[in-house]
Amino acid sequence: MTIPALNHFLDLADLSSDQFWGLMRLAKRLKDERAEKGANAPILANKSLALLFQKPSLRTRVSFEMGMQHLGGYAFYLSPAEVGLGTRESAADVARVLSGYVDGIMARVFGHQDVVDLANWGSVPVINGLSDFSHPCQALTDIFTAWEVLGDLEDRTIAYVGDGANNVATSLMMAAGKVGMNVRIVSPVGYMPDAGVVARSGAEVSVTNDLDGVQGADILYTDVWTSMGQESEREQRLAVFPPYQVSSGLLARTGNPQALVMHCLPAHRGEEITDEVADGPASILFPQAHNRLHAQKAILAHLLGGVPLE
Ligand code: CP
Ligand code: NVA
Repeated sequence: MTIPALNHFLDLADLSSDQFWGLMRLAKRLKDERAEKGANAPILANKSLALLFQKPSLRTRVSFEMGMQHLGGYAFYLSPAEVGLGTRESAADVARVLSGYVDGIMARVFGHQDVVDLANWGSVPVINGLSDFSHPCQALTDIFTAWEVLGDLEDRTIAYVGDGANNVATSLMMAAGKVGMNVRIVSPVGYMPDAGVVARSGAEVSVTNDLDGVQGADILYTDVWTSMGQESEREQRLAVFPPYQVSSGLLARTGNPQALVMHCLPAHRGEEITDEVADGPASILFPQAHNRLHAQKAILAHLLGGVPLE
């Protein structure tokens, strides 16, 4: 079976289920290769990646830098203050300039249109390392992690508790739709996902503000209540989100003693998740974070190295 190649990795809505599975299988091959042989083949020798950031990062920056290094390539970080994407220089100009220097651009931005503009104006692959709208690298990692721990994903249920309208929830729904997982979005009124996003995800999604929505979940997922760029809304959000904290009580409400807990991190411990759960036996937060490396490598190997999806 030939799976069509991707030109960019901007949004999971652009990927078919086959392309998504192709990236998951490639991530597994690269992860296994490094575990078995101690290193990956240098398939990105002489390739370079610009890491363009408008917001802070730990996982995204380090996993892309190390991912490039493991594959024999080179990556470098461009800070928000340095480039001034959209202020000092337009995304269209930044894209056209960088395309003459590097083989790929990973960008973390506020407005999603900036990653779209980078892709439209540049001539190298562009990877969305988080926008206000979506976080596809995270969701690829999350479903990859679920695949590792659960095996067959068809009809498994992931309950996302928190801000159902944020970038992580949006991408998680879209990723779940690629693999036949069911999604429950459990959010306070006013923070429910956009109906159009739910429809486009192709996933079986139910949306509720009732905490009993977590019943039967295989995975309980949460994210911060106030995302980067929403800091002015923090007090307002803190007034409505506390009942949606992922605590041992909420975990028990799944009714599934095997239920696992995920969080994209960074966590605001004591807000959306308790220490007890984050550090408890159901938590797979750190294997999940570590898998960012392997998911990133799959995206890089395919987009910059031309490794086919199969
Ligand atoms: N989960 C995630 O994207 O983490 P960073 O913001 O640290 O990159
Ligand atoms: N929703 C969070 C995710 C951080 C990785 C944010 O955008 O800040």
